[in-house]
Amino acid sequence: MTVLQHRFTAAQRVIHWLMAICILAMLFIGVGMVSTIEPKYLTLVSIHKPLGIAILVLALVRLALRLRYGAPPLPVKMAEPMKLGAYLSHYAFYLLMIGMPLIGWAMLSAAAYPVVLYGGVHLPSILPLSDSLHTLLWNAHYYLAFAFFALILLHLAAALFHALIRRDGVFEAMASLQR
Ligand code: HEM
Repeated sequence: MTVLQHRFTAAQRVIHWLMAICILAMLFIGVGMVSTIEPKYLTLVSIHKPLGIAILVLALVRLALRLRYGAPPLPVKMAEPMKLGAYLSHYAFYLLMIGMPLIGWAMLSAAAYPVVLYGGVHLPSILPLSDSLHTLLWNAHYYLAFAFFALILLHLAAALFHALIRRDGVFEAMASLQR
């Protein structure tokens, strides 16, 4: 007999909430950074770069966990368009969680700016010096940040809809504290 999985694994739940905090912080740090020309710009950038790379590493671990352990099935009674919306939003999340940090890293590489993690640890450049590539990637990083914000708001609305109105266990699959 196959036992249906009702919750994500504990590791998947921990990484989900950890990443939620990191990504929200990143979006606000990013907006704070580009809204100031004061010296705190440098402090914010020096947090933004390593945190972004940490998000990239976490996203890759999360993708590996997802491929290994899968996900609980969506409720049978959920309408097909809603299920499709859920699947598409999950693909979009993975694309953004992996794409945003790579674009940030590539954008700095194209301008020959150093990508410094902590202390003297520098990441290698992943693109040759190019003004046009830098502009293209800067614009991508800028507009995708808005798309990321919008996706998070939609995701939050959907989570609340499941938790408070449908009460169908979808929210608990990611929020349960049980092992
Ligand atoms: C999930 C990961 C990331 C998110 C959500 C994110 C988000 C943002 C946001 C919201 C902005 C402000 C956009 C604007 O209004 O102009 C920004 C700017 C910036 N990001 Fe990221 N970012 C991420 C990863 C990275 C990484 C890994 C790097 C570099 C290694 C990076 C480098 C930068 C730089 C240099 C700017 C400022 C550009 C400027 O001063 O004009 N980002 N980011």
